[in-house]
Amino acid sequence: MENNFLSLIKTRRSVRAYKPQPVPSEALDAVLEAGTYAPTGGGRQSPTIIAITDPKYRQEIARLNAEVMGNNTDPYYGAPVVILVLADGSANTFVEDGSCVLENMMLAAHALGLGTVWVHREREIFDSESGKALLREWKLPETLHGVGAIALGYPAKEAGQPAARKQNYIVRI
Ligand SMILES: Cc1cc2nc3c(=O)[nH]c(=O)nc-3n(C[C@H](O)[C@H](O)[C@H](O)COP(=O)(O)O)c2cc1C
Repeated sequence: MENNFLSLIKTRRSVRAYKPQPVPSEALDAVLEAGTYAPTGGGRQSPTIIAITDPKYRQEIARLNAEVMGNNTDPYYGAPVVILVLADGSANTFVEDGSCVLENMMLAAHALGLGTVWVHREREIFDSESGKALLREWKLPETLHGVGAIALGYPAKEAGQPAARKQNYIVRI
């Protein structure tokens, strides 16, 4: 079946090289707003979305993420924006809620000609003392747990083709 939205889903690819140019504020606002319309368990809206453009914190979050991996690369591939999704651990669906938010934002960004990639290890970062110190600095509650992040920006190169979908991905009963 042909449909613009279905085609958008199929053409989104993880982007691992970004141009340094900033993301226009209207585009960033639209991506963030799309995140807030994700479904959440019980309608609790457990996630909190943290958009980082300030170079100081952009650098700090990259350092903390790389520290979890035990190296000093930029895990966000030079993207000008890093969007963290944390969620209130008291909601039993906090991981699923945050994941829906992340996917909404990735698709919205793609619709606007921006690139994204999900970047992991936010759980470890915000369970650590350094992550909790950042939460205090940002005046956010320490009950928030990291779910994931996306790097956001203009792709520096063409996206590749998706991997073939595995056999038996779909089972019809
Ligand atoms: C839960 C999750 C964690 C991921 N973590 C990373 C990551 O830390 N770094 C990275 O470059 N890509 C990460 N990815 C992106 C996947 O590698 C990517 O989605 C996958 O290879 C399929 O490629 P596609 O997104 O282009 O379809 C992650 C994706 C998911 C869903």
